[in-house]
Amino acid sequence: MTKFIVSWNVQFCLLLLAVYICFINISEASSDHFQHTLGHVKPQASAKVQAEAARKVAQRLLGTIGASLFSISVDPDFGISGRDRFKISKSVEDNVEILATSGVAAAWGLHYYLKHYCNVHIAWEGMQLELPNKLPEVELTVTSNDRFRYYQNVVVAGYSTVWWKWEQWEKHIDWMALNGINLALAFHGQEAIWQKIYLGLNMTQEEIDEHFGGVAFLPWARMGNIRGWGGPLSSSWHKHTVILQHQILGRMRELGIIPVLPAFAGHVPRALTRLFPAANVTETQCWNHFNDQYCCPNLLNPVDPLFKKLGSDFLKEYINEFGTDHVYSCDTFNENEPPTTNLASLRNISRSIYDAMTTVDPGAIWLLQGWLFVHDIIFWTESRVEAFITSVPIGKMIILDLQSEQFPQYTRLKSYYGQPFIWCMLHNFGGTLGMFGSAAIINKRVFEGRQLQNGTMIGTGITPEGINQNYVMYELMNEMAYRRNSVNLDTWFEDYSRRRYGSWNEYTVKAWKTLGRTIYNFSGLQRVRGQYVITRHPSLKIIPWSWYDRDQILSTWQVFLEGRYGRRNSTLYRHDVVDLTRQVLQLTADIIYTNVLNSFNKKNITALRKQASLMLELFDDLEKILASSKDFLLGVWLRDAKSVATNKAEEELYEYNARNQITLWGPNGEIRDYANKQWSGVVADYFKPRWAVFLKALEDSLSSGKKFNATEVNKRIFDTVEQPFTFSRKIYLDEPQGDSIDIALNLRDKWKKKDNFLHGQSANCNHNH
Ligand SMILES: *[C@@H]1O[C@H](CO)[C@@H](O)[C@H](O)[C@H]1NC(C)=O
Ligand SMILES: *[C@@H]1O[C@H](CO)[C@@H](O)[C@H](O)[C@H]1NC(C)=O
Ligand SMILES: *[C@@H]1O[C@H](CO)[C@@H](O)[C@H](O)[C@H]1NC(C)=O
Ligand SMILES: *[C@@H]1O[C@H](CO)[C@@H](O)[C@H](O)[C@H]1NC(C)=O
Ligand SMILES: *[C@@H]1O[C@H](CO)[C@@H](O)[C@H](O)[C@H]1NC(C)=O
Ligand SMILES: *[C@@H]1O[C@H](CO)[C@@H](O)[C@H](O)[C@H]1NC(C)=O
Ligand SMILES: *[C@@H]1O[C@H](CO)[C@@H](O)[C@H](O)[C@H]1NC(C)=O
Ligand SMILES: *[C@@H]1O[C@H](CO)[C@@H](O)[C@H](O)[C@H]1NC(C)=O
Repeated sequence: MTKFIVSWNVQFCLLLLAVYICFINISEASSDHFQHTLGHVKPQASAKVQAEAARKVAQRLLGTIGASLFSISVDPDFGISGRDRFKISKSVEDNVEILATSGVAAAWGLHYYLKHYCNVHIAWEGMQLELPNKLPEVELTVTSNDRFRYYQNVVVAGYSTVWWKWEQWEKHIDWMALNGINLALAFHGQEAIWQKIYLGLNMTQEEIDEHFGGVAFLPWARMGNIRGWGGPLSSSWHKHTVILQHQILGRMRELGIIPVLPAFAGHVPRALTRLFPAANVTETQCWNHFNDQYCCPNLLNPVDPLFKKLGSDFLKEYINEFGTDHVYSCDTFNENEPPTTNLASLRNISRSIYDAMTTVDPGAIWLLQGWLFVHDIIFWTESRVEAFITSVPIGKMIILDLQSEQFPQYTRLKSYYGQPFIWCMLHNFGGTLGMFGSAAIINKRVFEGRQLQNGTMIGTGITPEGINQNYVMYELMNEMAYRRNSVNLDTWFEDYSRRRYGSWNEYTVKAWKTLGRTIYNFSGLQRVRGQYVITRHPSLKIIPWSWYDRDQILSTWQVFLEGRYGRRNSTLYRHDVVDLTRQVLQLTADIIYTNVLNSFNKKNITALRKQASLMLELFDDLEKILASSKDFLLGVWLRDAKSVATNKAEEELYEYNARNQITLWGPNGEIRDYANKQWSGVVADYFKPRWAVFLKALEDSLSSGKKFNATEVNKRIFDTVEQPFTFSRKIYLDEPQGDSIDIALNLRDKWKKKDNFLHGQSANCNHNH
């Protein structure tokens, strides 16, 4: 195998040489136009510190001996107009030398070499790090297309990283650096600072507690969508997040990653009016049916002088504690409509928000998540957006064009009327787990965005709501930061599979190519939100839908399993076996569901019973395959939640937060199943029992002749399954059980036998609605 890799590399070197020649001619990018306003947004650590930090990344990745084959140095002046660059070459001593503009750029260069020359793969769920015996020859320079590579969505802190400790963060920051990410959200510790400010204003602890969200719901409380839900926060939580923030910022700064810090958006406890009766506040709108107890905090009008005072007090205190790199994220109207439509007022509002930042930090740059312009396109007309964003001096605001791959706003909004923007892939909602992606669009539109006439694109970014799914899409998107041209996607998916499992294999390659052309080639305007028959609240009204052919995925699964020889020990292959099997079962449930409906509508109780029992069996199979992988366990999520607690009360509250967020999301199912997880434990004790109640009710209705009463059944599901699941303290395994490949093979044989029966029943199940 090693021999193969080396010979393959020779070919690849030739290819790269060709690519390198194209790289020499660097066109002027819009990044350069903002040097005068963004020039100070750059790594503060010395070249020496950054180089050392990058070496440590290499050591954690490759071990001391592996890392010693690389010599890393940093020279900030090696860049071009603020854009990062790295140069990789083989020295006479056979070392690979990496010279880069920053610590991040050096780690990025290391990853570039390992990936494109040594067939290495680094993913969230595992790594394939088998190096060739002799490191391949190399001589190339890569310059970043844009100034920034941005990462994170404000809600990742709720859906994915909420329970993380330093150990997980350290690994993840390494991953960021290896992917060249040089601008990243760092939001911890803000409630600790607010608590201090509010107490200083004589607010009572009770008044503060009903404002902050619970630990798994902080992002939405921060944006004024909810208040108090899942809380209160304890002093040990505050302590935990302050320490964590120091560690995260320390590491990011050493590497030269610019952390984006929180600024005051205006959402304040209701009690503010007790202390300041004249304060100009409005209640934010009700969000997703949360009742008054948990919704609608006050929004302090940014033009009220009190806004400037509170906002600057907060920022002063925050910077005192954590320092600053001058970029501040602030979302006042994320999913709330502004209280005015008047253009001058909108202008004053945003100007006031920005002024509260510059009072404290004259170099402040406001980073705005552009989600509002997508979410409420009716309110945010062109002129309102223009008024809102151009009252901030041009170049002092950075807009994240969220979900550029599906709902780009930069064209409608004329490159944000001159404000710089970052092209962001918002690939995932709620951290749900269905396979999905828009490879062809990403492979095209990023380049178009960069080429816009008078365009202001200054970066690329990934802004998923949750991570740990569909890694392939993140891998593709991250490459867009240095690729000069679109890739051939067929070849790209082939290369991906070769790196991921360590060697070329006809079955895994074939499977990935098919996935690339089907599941990962979504191009519609439907909102894909991880809601499938198995993960949804049971109902007679679900319309199963997919943009690709179910049978093709079924046969791809079989092909993929043929690739198991020699890959039984590959962590990543095993992970993908589980994920693909999960996907196939998810799709199979669509068919069974359609059969259930047909039998029910035809009042054929025999057929209904048969299909119902098939459905429940499918849940058991899903549970079994998921339980075989460390990446699909409720037990891990709950263990991690509890491990942050410092006493019994916290432990109980955190577990409740963890369980509620992935199921009811709110006391009464306000956004039920939005962040659902196809995990072992959730399937057995939440998804399956819901369907069991529902299917039984259908059968009872047919046998008794009584009309099916959905209201009554929904209530029963809530009372007997959903709510009890959120309060339960049941302990789940946090170690995988069984062999994923053997389980998958069994399921393949078993469901193959049932296939005719499934299809015979569903001649008119249309999957391409
Ligand atoms: C808070 O209360 C104390 C004691 O009642 C008072 O001295 C102080 O001025 C108050 N602070 C504010 C900001 O109102
Ligand atoms: C609050 O601010 C709005 C917008 O500036 C203004 O129309 C309104 O009169 C103010 N209300 C109070 C009570 O000051
Ligand atoms: C906007 O702010 C300016 C300056 O503070 C003020 O003169 C003007 O009346 C405000 N306009 C509106 C509509 O609030
Ligand atoms: C670009 O800017 C130039 C000069 O300001 C202007 O003449 C031209 O119309 C602009 N093009 C577009 C597409 O906005
Ligand atoms: C992906 O989808 C696009 C647009 O729908 C289509 O033009 C393209 O041919 C598809 N690519 C593949 C490899 O199927
Ligand atoms: C897989 O790992 C096991 C245990 O480490 C080892 O005994 C076996 O030889 C490995 N198999 C392959 C195909 O590498
Ligand atoms: C009911 O469904 C079964 C298949 O499960 C079929 O054999 C039978 O003919 C159906 N009965 C009627 C009346 O359609
Ligand atoms: C359905 O059940 C609900 C709740 O039990 C009940 O209030 C309602 O009257 C029932 N509807 C019908 C049509 O029976």
